[in-house]
Amino acid sequence: MHWGCNTNSISTNKLQLSYPAHFPKPISSPPRNETTSAGVALGKRLFFDPKLSAKGQISCTSCHQPNLTFSDAQKFSFGHSGKALKRNTPPLFNLAWSETFFWDGGVKNLESLSFAALTNSDEMGSDLTLLSGQLNRDKNYRKAFNKAFGIDSVSSAYVSRALAQYMRTLISANAKYDSVQLALAQFSEVEMQGKIVFEQNCASCHSPPLFTDNKFHHNGIAQFYSAENLSLTTGRFRITRDSVDLGKYKTPSLRNLKYTAPYMHDGRFANLDEVLNHYQNLNASNQIQDSLVDNIKFSDSEKIALEAFLNSLNGGPIK
Ligand code: HEC
Ligand code: HEC
Repeated sequence: MHWGCNTNSISTNKLQLSYPAHFPKPISSPPRNETTSAGVALGKRLFFDPKLSAKGQISCTSCHQPNLTFSDAQKFSFGHSGKALKRNTPPLFNLAWSETFFWDGGVKNLESLSFAALTNSDEMGSDLTLLSGQLNRDKNYRKAFNKAFGIDSVSSAYVSRALAQYMRTLISANAKYDSVQLALAQFSEVEMQGKIVFEQNCASCHSPPLFTDNKFHHNGIAQFYSAENLSLTTGRFRITRDSVDLGKYKTPSLRNLKYTAPYMHDGRFANLDEVLNHYQNLNASNQIQDSLVDNIKFSDSEKIALEAFLNSLNGGPIK
């Protein structure tokens, strides 16, 4: 089964994302950057091209690796500067259903998101003016930008727009869970049992079918932070400056966990077992501020079933 869109023929025809019947409607791309096959093909080429980084060594795929559903296996990734980043690299899929990006929702706009990765000295370290000049001198790129956007001269805004078009086509919906929803397969008994444990304990935040509510929560990870410390460890508070948001992070999807370890915004848990132990042993010392977490309770045998259900959310690498 393959969900996604056909990127074989390059034209400026508008592209409709194809997605399964049990998904909600994706958020529309903004009118200034409607998805076209030429735009997606260009975005894909840019996404894989290390020439976009200052020293020509780092591409988006250095950290967002296609065979790992666009995450990497690192706790923290390394980029241009050789310094470890401060947050775990998230996978990239089903972004067309997301209104905010980054662990704290600090970016609202996929069309401009890439400027941060391109210019951050710990990621790709590029200068946008130099980068546009370089792309303008490349005949093939100039042609591709012309085809996608009808422009004669490349500017960085279009680099970011093309990347956004490509990233919206990264759809993950080919797990066993999806086949069951489409009545093409059936859960095993243990998966069925796990589904019930999941619905009772996890689904309020990790809501199907995307397995995220795209909101911000405190999931019981102990944190030390103060209102004066606006560093990256304060979570959503860094954006809203509202103390109820201290330590809250955006709920990550639970699709493709097979590929996305280590887990959490700081990659603190190496495997699923460590995650489930965390949820099984929540207590007041975890500084829980989110009442939803208070209700989490499951036995050891339910834990095994839960893990079986979570495994049914693994799709294959995204094409
Ligand atoms: C050196 C590693 C690295 C490189 C290179 C990199 N990223 Fe990322 N990316 C990250 C990390 C880490 C985050 C999480 C940042 C945060 O939440 O504060 C992230 C977040 C994202 C997100 C948000 C995902 C979400 O669900 O919120 C998108 C989209 C993204 N990157 C796209 C790109 C694109 C496009 C490129 C290339 C232009 C790129 N990244 C290059 C490490 C990297
Ligand atoms: C109150 C909302 C909430 C509930 C309930 C909840 N989670 Fe989470 N979950 C989160 C948030 C928020 C994060 C990210 C926290 C962070 O990175 O600091 C997260 C992270 C995770 C991760 C790591 C994913 C990744 O890519 O890093 C897994 C796995 C996970 N949860 C599984 C579960 C399971 C299984 C349950 C039920 C037993 C559950 N969660 C219940 C909100 C919740």
